[in-house]
Amino acid sequence: MEAVVLVGGQGTRLQPLTIRTPKPMLPFAGAPFLTHQITRLRAAGVEHIVLATSYRAEVFAEHFGNGKELGIRIDYVTETEPLGTGGGIRNVARRLESGPADAVLIVNGDVLSGHDIGAQLELHRRREAAATLHLVEVPDARPFGCVPTDSHNRVTGFFEKSPEPVTNRINAGCYVFARHVIDEIPEGRVVSVERETFPGLLEDKQMVLGYVDNAYWLDVGTPRAFVKGSSDVVRGVVDSPVLSGSVGESLIDPDASVHPNAVITGGSVIGPRSVVESGATVHSTVVADGAHIGSGAVIGFSLIGRRAVIGRKAMLNDVVIGEGAKIGENNELANGIRIWTDAVIPDAAIRFSPLP
Ligand code: GDD
Ligand code: MG
Repeated sequence: MEAVVLVGGQGTRLQPLTIRTPKPMLPFAGAPFLTHQITRLRAAGVEHIVLATSYRAEVFAEHFGNGKELGIRIDYVTETEPLGTGGGIRNVARRLESGPADAVLIVNGDVLSGHDIGAQLELHRRREAAATLHLVEVPDARPFGCVPTDSHNRVTGFFEKSPEPVTNRINAGCYVFARHVIDEIPEGRVVSVERETFPGLLEDKQMVLGYVDNAYWLDVGTPRAFVKGSSDVVRGVVDSPVLSGSVGESLIDPDASVHPNAVITGGSVIGPRSVVESGATVHSTVVADGAHIGSGAVIGFSLIGRRAVIGRKAMLNDVVIGEGAKIGENNELANGIRIWTDAVIPDAAIRFSPLP
Protein backbone atom coordinates (compact mmCIF):
# COMPACT_ATOMS: atom_id res chain seq x y z
CA MET A 1 0.00 0.00 0.00
CA GLU A 2 1.30 3.46 -0.96
CA ALA A 3 0.51 6.94 0.35
CA VAL A 4 1.22 10.46 -0.83
CA VAL A 5 1.50 13.15 1.84
CA LEU A 6 1.06 16.77 0.70
CA VAL A 7 3.57 18.86 2.61
CA GLY A 8 4.36 21.71 0.21
CA GLY A 9 2.34 24.52 1.84
CA GLN A 10 4.02 27.56 3.35
CA GLY A 11 2.27 27.33 6.72
CA THR A 12 1.57 31.08 6.67
CA ARG A 13 -0.84 30.91 9.58
CA LEU A 14 1.90 29.47 11.79
CA GLN A 15 4.46 32.18 11.06
CA PRO A 16 6.97 33.05 12.38
CA LEU A 17 7.60 29.43 13.43
CA THR A 18 7.33 28.28 9.80
CA ILE A 19 9.94 30.72 8.46
CA ARG A 20 12.71 28.17 8.87
CA THR A 21 10.70 25.01 9.50
CA PRO A 22 7.83 23.77 7.32
CA LYS A 23 4.56 23.24 9.22
CA PRO A 24 4.64 19.41 9.25
CA MET A 25 8.14 19.49 10.81
CA LEU A 26 7.26 21.66 13.81
CA PRO A 27 7.60 19.86 17.17
CA PHE A 28 4.29 18.36 18.23
CA ALA A 29 3.75 15.95 21.14
CA GLY A 30 7.38 14.91 21.26
CA ALA A 31 8.13 14.54 17.52
CA PRO A 32 7.68 16.53 14.31
CA PHE A 33 3.97 16.57 13.44
CA LEU A 34 4.63 14.49 10.33
CA THR A 35 6.11 11.63 12.40
CA HIS A 36 2.70 11.11 13.99
CA GLN A 37 1.08 10.96 10.54
CA ILE A 38 3.70 8.64 9.05
CA THR A 39 3.47 6.18 11.94
CA ARG A 40 -0.31 6.22 11.67
CA LEU A 41 -0.13 5.44 7.97
CA ARG A 42 2.33 2.65 8.70
CA ALA A 43 -0.09 1.22 11.27
CA ALA A 44 -2.79 1.23 8.55
CA GLY A 45 -0.61 -0.95 6.32
CA VAL A 46 1.23 1.66 4.25
CA GLU A 47 4.74 0.54 3.24
CA HIS A 48 5.81 3.30 0.84
CA ILE A 49 5.27 7.05 1.30
CA VAL A 50 5.98 9.76 -1.24
CA LEU A 51 6.25 13.23 0.25
CA ALA A 52 5.12 15.97 -2.15
CA THR A 53 7.36 18.80 -1.00
CA SER A 54 7.93 22.36 -2.12
CA TYR A 55 8.48 24.96 0.62
CA ARG A 56 11.68 24.18 2.62
CA ALA A 57 11.85 20.73 1.02
CA GLU A 58 15.36 19.93 2.35
CA VAL A 59 14.18 19.85 5.99
CA PHE A 60 12.09 16.71 5.38
CA ALA A 61 14.82 14.62 3.77
CA GLU A 62 17.41 15.70 6.36
CA HIS A 63 15.16 14.42 9.13
CA PHE A 64 13.55 11.30 7.69
CA GLY A 65 16.10 10.13 5.12
CA ASN A 66 14.88 6.96 3.42
CA GLY A 67 12.46 6.28 6.29
CA LYS A 68 14.29 3.22 7.60
CA GLU A 69 14.25 4.42 11.22
CA LEU A 70 10.45 4.59 11.08
CA GLY A 71 10.22 1.22 9.37
CA ILE A 72 8.77 2.56 6.14
CA ARG A 73 10.13 3.56 2.71
CA ILE A 74 10.05 7.31 2.06
CA ASP A 75 10.62 9.06 -1.29
CA TYR A 76 10.56 12.78 -2.01
CA VAL A 77 9.39 14.73 -5.03
CA THR A 78 9.97 18.48 -4.88
CA GLU A 79 8.11 21.12 -6.84
CA THR A 80 10.40 23.99 -7.83
CA GLU A 81 7.30 26.20 -8.03
CA PRO A 82 4.36 25.09 -5.88
CA LEU A 83 1.90 23.19 -8.10
CA GLY A 84 -1.06 23.27 -5.71
CA THR A 85 -2.61 20.20 -4.11
CA GLY A 86 -3.65 18.46 -7.37
CA GLY A 87 -0.45 19.45 -9.19
CA GLY A 88 1.56 18.12 -6.26
CA ILE A 89 -0.27 14.78 -6.41
CA ARG A 90 0.24 14.52 -10.19
CA ASN A 91 3.90 15.41 -9.83
CA VAL A 92 4.65 12.39 -7.62
CA ALA A 93 2.99 9.88 -9.99
CA ARG A 94 6.31 8.78 -11.48
CA ARG A 95 7.45 7.57 -8.05
CA LEU A 96 4.35 5.46 -7.37
CA GLU A 97 4.64 1.73 -7.83
CA SER A 98 0.91 0.85 -7.77
CA GLY A 99 -0.92 -0.49 -10.82
CA PRO A 100 -3.69 1.54 -12.56
CA ALA A 101 -6.58 0.03 -10.56
CA ASP A 102 -4.77 0.00 -7.18
CA ALA A 103 -5.87 2.25 -4.34
CA VAL A 104 -3.45 5.02 -3.30
CA LEU A 105 -3.92 7.04 -0.10
CA ILE A 106 -3.46 10.80 -0.24
CA VAL A 107 -3.23 12.86 2.93
CA ASN A 108 -2.97 16.57 3.71
CA GLY A 109 0.17 17.03 5.80
CA ASP A 110 -1.52 19.02 8.57
CA VAL A 111 -4.41 16.81 9.63
CA LEU A 112 -4.57 14.93 12.93
CA SER A 113 -7.17 12.22 12.56
CA GLY A 114 -8.28 9.17 14.48
CA HIS A 115 -10.53 7.84 11.72
CA ASP A 116 -10.51 4.24 10.51
CA ILE A 117 -8.34 4.29 7.38
CA GLY A 118 -8.97 0.57 6.85
CA ALA A 119 -12.75 1.10 6.72
CA GLN A 120 -12.31 3.98 4.24
CA LEU A 121 -10.19 1.72 2.00
CA GLU A 122 -12.69 -1.08 2.32
CA LEU A 123 -15.59 1.15 1.18
CA HIS A 124 -13.50 2.38 -1.76
CA ARG A 125 -12.60 -1.13 -2.91
CA ARG A 126 -16.06 -2.63 -2.37
CA ARG A 127 -17.75 0.04 -4.49
CA GLU A 128 -14.86 0.26 -7.01
CA ALA A 129 -14.84 4.03 -6.67
CA ALA A 130 -12.62 6.46 -8.56
CA ALA A 131 -12.02 8.37 -5.31
CA THR A 132 -13.22 8.03 -1.71
CA LEU A 133 -13.00 11.03 0.60
CA HIS A 134 -12.96 10.98 4.37
CA LEU A 135 -15.66 13.43 5.52
CA VAL A 136 -16.25 14.87 8.98
CA GLU A 137 -19.02 17.00 10.42
CA VAL A 138 -18.00 20.39 11.83
CA PRO A 139 -20.00 23.26 13.34
CA ASP A 140 -18.70 25.78 10.77
CA ALA A 141 -17.83 24.45 7.31
CA ARG A 142 -16.75 27.78 5.81
CA PRO A 143 -12.94 27.38 6.24
CA PHE A 144 -13.04 23.92 4.60
CA GLY A 145 -14.17 22.05 1.50
CA CYS A 146 -17.93 21.52 1.83
CA VAL A 147 -18.95 18.08 0.49
CA PRO A 148 -22.64 17.07 0.16
CA THR A 149 -23.48 13.38 -0.44
CA ASP A 150 -26.59 11.41 -1.41
CA SER A 151 -28.12 8.48 0.51
CA HIS A 152 -25.69 6.03 -1.17
CA ASN A 153 -22.61 7.94 0.05
CA ARG A 154 -22.01 9.38 -3.40
CA VAL A 155 -20.49 12.84 -3.38
CA THR A 156 -22.81 15.24 -5.23
CA GLY A 157 -20.74 18.44 -5.11
CA PHE A 158 -17.46 19.94 -3.84
CA PHE A 159 -17.41 23.55 -2.69
CA GLU A 160 -14.05 24.76 -1.42
CA LYS A 161 -14.26 27.50 1.26
CA SER A 162 -17.90 28.20 0.49
CA PRO A 163 -19.23 31.30 2.33
CA GLU A 164 -22.65 29.64 2.50
CA PRO A 165 -22.05 25.89 3.01
CA VAL A 166 -24.89 23.61 1.92
CA THR A 167 -23.92 20.99 4.55
CA ASN A 168 -21.69 20.75 7.62
CA ARG A 169 -19.90 17.73 6.13
CA ILE A 170 -16.42 18.68 5.04
CA ASN A 171 -13.42 17.24 3.28
CA ALA A 172 -11.16 15.93 6.04
CA GLY A 173 -8.08 15.85 3.80
CA CYS A 174 -7.59 12.07 3.45
CA TYR A 175 -8.48 10.52 0.09
CA VAL A 176 -8.27 7.14 -1.55
CA PHE A 177 -7.66 7.50 -5.29
CA ALA A 178 -7.62 4.79 -7.91
CA ARG A 179 -4.08 5.14 -9.30
CA HIS A 180 -5.32 5.96 -12.84
CA VAL A 181 -7.18 9.03 -11.48
CA ILE A 182 -3.81 10.46 -10.36
CA ASP A 183 -2.34 9.87 -13.84
CA GLU A 184 -5.28 11.72 -15.41
CA ILE A 185 -4.59 14.99 -13.54
CA PRO A 186 -3.01 17.46 -16.02
CA GLU A 187 0.78 17.59 -15.72
CA GLY A 188 3.18 20.49 -15.36
CA ARG A 189 0.81 23.20 -14.15
CA VAL A 190 -0.91 24.37 -10.97
CA VAL A 191 -3.97 22.25 -10.15
CA SER A 192 -6.17 22.43 -7.06
CA VAL A 193 -7.54 18.99 -6.24
CA GLU A 194 -10.37 20.73 -4.37
CA ARG A 195 -11.34 23.33 -6.99
CA GLU A 196 -10.58 21.41 -10.19
CA THR A 197 -10.04 17.65 -9.80
CA PHE A 198 -13.03 16.77 -7.59
CA PRO A 199 -15.54 19.00 -9.47
CA GLY A 200 -14.17 17.53 -12.74
CA LEU A 201 -14.64 13.93 -11.57
CA LEU A 202 -18.23 14.75 -10.56
CA GLU A 203 -18.94 16.40 -13.91
CA ASP A 204 -17.65 13.24 -15.65
CA LYS A 205 -20.10 11.19 -13.52
CA GLN A 206 -17.25 9.21 -11.96
CA MET A 207 -17.91 7.38 -8.72
CA VAL A 208 -16.71 9.67 -5.91
CA LEU A 209 -17.67 8.44 -2.44
CA GLY A 210 -17.80 10.05 0.97
CA TYR A 211 -16.66 8.00 3.95
CA VAL A 212 -18.17 9.72 6.98
CA ASP A 213 -16.27 9.06 10.20
CA ASN A 214 -16.60 11.45 13.12
CA ALA A 215 -13.65 10.18 15.14
CA TYR A 216 -11.20 12.78 16.47
CA TRP A 217 -10.23 15.20 13.68
CA LEU A 218 -8.30 18.46 13.63
CA ASP A 219 -6.55 20.58 11.00
CA VAL A 220 -3.51 21.85 12.93
CA GLY A 221 -2.83 24.75 10.54
CA THR A 222 -3.41 27.57 13.07
CA PRO A 223 -1.50 28.24 16.32
CA ARG A 224 -4.55 27.50 18.50
CA ALA A 225 -5.29 24.24 16.70
CA PHE A 226 -1.63 23.20 16.74
CA VAL A 227 -1.39 23.65 20.51
CA LYS A 228 -4.71 21.87 21.04
CA GLY A 229 -3.70 18.91 18.85
CA SER A 230 -0.36 18.45 20.56
CA SER A 231 -1.95 18.67 24.02
CA ASP A 232 -4.67 16.20 23.00
CA VAL A 233 -2.07 13.65 21.86
CA VAL A 234 -0.05 14.09 25.07
CA ARG A 235 -3.19 13.62 27.19
CA GLY A 236 -4.33 10.64 25.14
CA VAL A 237 -7.53 12.28 23.86
CA VAL A 238 -6.40 10.93 20.47
CA ASP A 239 -3.93 8.07 20.01
CA SER A 240 -0.62 8.39 18.24
CA PRO A 241 1.70 5.42 17.68
CA VAL A 242 4.57 7.79 18.62
CA LEU A 243 3.52 7.84 22.28
CA SER A 244 2.09 4.31 22.33
CA GLY A 245 -0.03 4.63 25.42
CA SER A 246 2.33 6.67 27.66
CA VAL A 247 0.02 9.64 28.17
CA GLY A 248 -0.43 12.22 30.90
CA GLU A 249 -0.51 15.89 31.86
CA SER A 250 2.86 16.67 30.30
CA LEU A 251 5.61 15.31 28.06
CA ILE A 252 9.02 16.38 29.29
CA ASP A 253 12.02 15.45 27.19
CA PRO A 254 14.69 13.51 29.12
CA ASP A 255 17.19 16.19 28.09
CA ALA A 256 15.06 19.05 29.47
CA SER A 257 15.63 20.52 32.91
CA VAL A 258 12.45 21.33 34.83
CA HIS A 259 12.60 22.66 38.40
CA PRO A 260 10.74 20.35 40.80
CA ASN A 261 8.28 23.03 41.82
CA ALA A 262 7.44 24.19 38.31
CA VAL A 263 3.93 23.08 37.29
CA ILE A 264 3.55 21.60 33.79
CA THR A 265 -0.04 20.65 32.90
CA GLY A 266 -2.74 20.41 30.22
CA GLY A 267 -0.72 18.22 27.86
CA SER A 268 2.24 20.61 27.64
CA VAL A 269 5.46 19.56 25.92
CA ILE A 270 8.90 20.62 27.15
CA GLY A 271 11.42 20.00 24.37
CA PRO A 272 15.02 18.76 24.52
CA ARG A 273 17.58 21.07 26.22
CA SER A 274 14.84 23.41 27.45
CA VAL A 275 14.96 24.81 30.97
CA VAL A 276 11.97 25.66 33.18
CA GLU A 277 12.88 27.59 36.34
CA SER A 278 11.30 27.41 39.78
CA GLY A 279 7.71 28.45 40.27
CA ALA A 280 6.94 28.65 36.56
CA THR A 281 3.55 27.40 35.33
CA VAL A 282 3.14 25.97 31.83
CA HIS A 283 -0.33 24.85 30.70
CA SER A 284 -1.37 23.36 27.32
CA THR A 285 1.74 24.75 25.62
CA VAL A 286 4.41 23.47 23.24
CA VAL A 287 7.91 24.52 24.27
CA ALA A 288 10.39 23.69 21.47
CA ASP A 289 14.07 22.74 21.84
CA GLY A 290 16.48 24.83 23.88
CA ALA A 291 13.97 27.37 25.22
CA HIS A 292 14.32 28.97 28.64
CA ILE A 293 11.33 29.73 30.88
CA GLY A 294 12.19 32.07 33.76
CA SER A 295 11.08 31.62 37.35
CA GLY A 296 7.49 32.49 38.13
CA ALA A 297 6.53 32.84 34.47
CA VAL A 298 2.93 31.83 33.70
CA ILE A 299 2.33 30.43 30.21
CA GLY A 300 -0.85 28.95 28.71
CA PHE A 301 -2.08 27.80 25.28
CA SER A 302 1.05 29.04 23.50
CA LEU A 303 3.78 27.98 21.10
CA ILE A 304 7.30 28.79 22.28
CA GLY A 305 9.89 28.58 19.49
CA ARG A 306 13.37 27.08 19.64
CA ARG A 307 15.85 28.89 21.89
CA ALA A 308 13.29 31.51 22.93
CA VAL A 309 13.87 33.08 26.34
CA ILE A 310 10.92 33.99 28.56
CA GLY A 311 11.83 36.33 31.42
CA ARG A 312 10.90 36.01 35.09
CA LYS A 313 7.23 36.50 35.93
CA ALA A 314 6.23 37.06 32.31
CA MET A 315 2.60 36.14 31.61
CA LEU A 316 1.84 34.61 28.21
CA ASN A 317 -1.56 33.39 27.13
CA ASP A 318 -2.51 32.26 23.60
CA VAL A 319 0.62 33.64 21.90
CA VAL A 320 3.34 32.51 19.48
CA ILE A 321 6.95 33.28 20.38
CA GLY A 322 9.36 33.02 17.43
CA GLU A 323 12.67 31.17 17.49
CA GLY A 324 15.35 32.93 19.51
CA ALA A 325 13.02 35.74 20.65
CA LYS A 326 13.66 37.24 24.09
CA ILE A 327 10.72 38.30 26.23
CA GLY A 328 11.88 40.46 29.16
CA GLU A 329 10.66 40.03 32.73
CA ASN A 330 7.18 41.08 33.79
CA ASN A 331 5.63 41.35 30.33
CA GLU A 332 2.00 40.40 29.68
CA LEU A 333 1.22 39.06 26.22
CA ALA A 334 -2.07 37.54 25.11
CA ASN A 335 -4.79 37.20 22.46
CA GLY A 336 -3.00 35.63 19.51
CA ILE A 337 -0.05 38.04 19.47
CA ARG A 338 3.03 36.78 17.57
CA ILE A 339 6.56 37.76 18.49
CA TRP A 340 8.88 37.49 15.50
CA THR A 341 12.07 35.41 15.20
CA ASP A 342 14.93 36.87 17.31
CA ALA A 343 12.83 39.87 18.43
CA VAL A 344 13.69 41.39 21.83
CA ILE A 345 10.98 42.74 24.16
CA PRO A 346 12.48 44.79 27.02
CA ASP A 347 11.53 44.12 30.66
CA ALA A 348 8.03 45.24 31.70
CA ALA A 349 7.39 46.78 28.26
CA ILE A 350 3.95 45.35 27.53
CA ARG A 351 0.85 45.21 29.73
CA PHE A 352 -2.25 43.39 28.69
CA SER A 353 -4.63 44.71 31.32
CA PRO A 354 -7.79 45.97 29.60
CA LEU A 355 -8.22 49.76 29.45
CA PRO A 356 -10.38 51.12 32.28
N1 GDD B 1 3.10 19.70 -2.56
C1 GDD B 1 2.28 20.72 -2.32
N2 GDD B 1 2.23 21.74 -3.21
N3 GDD B 1 1.54 20.69 -1.20
C2 GDD B 1 0.71 21.75 -0.97
C3 GDD B 1 0.62 22.84 -1.84
C4 GDD B 1 1.43 22.84 -3.03
O1 GDD B 1 1.43 23.76 -3.86
N4 GDD B 1 -0.30 23.72 -1.33
C5 GDD B 1 -0.74 23.17 -0.18
N5 GDD B 1 -0.14 22.00 0.05
C6 GDD B 1 -0.34 21.07 1.18
C7 GDD B 1 -0.20 21.75 2.53
O2 GDD B 1 1.13 21.60 3.01
C8 GDD B 1 -1.19 20.98 3.39
O3 GDD B 1 -0.63 19.83 3.96
C9 GDD B 1 -2.27 20.52 2.40
O4 GDD B 1 -1.69 20.65 1.10
C10 GDD B 1 -3.55 21.36 2.48
O5 GDD B 1 -3.21 22.72 2.36
P1 GDD B 1 -3.76 23.81 3.40
O6 GDD B 1 -3.18 25.12 2.99
O7 GDD B 1 -3.55 23.37 4.80
O8 GDD B 1 -5.31 23.82 3.01
P2 GDD B 1 -6.58 24.12 3.94
O9 GDD B 1 -6.39 23.60 5.30
O10 GDD B 1 -6.93 25.56 3.79
O11 GDD B 1 -7.73 23.27 3.17
C11 GDD B 1 -7.54 21.89 2.85
O12 GDD B 1 -7.70 21.07 3.99
C12 GDD B 1 -9.02 21.08 4.58
C13 GDD B 1 -9.00 20.09 5.73
O13 GDD B 1 -8.03 20.39 6.65
C14 GDD B 1 -8.57 21.51 1.76
O14 GDD B 1 -8.24 20.23 1.32
C15 GDD B 1 -10.01 21.56 2.32
O15 GDD B 1 -10.90 21.07 1.35
C16 GDD B 1 -10.10 20.69 3.55
O16 GDD B 1 -11.41 20.79 4.13
MG1 MG C 1 -4.82 22.83 6.39
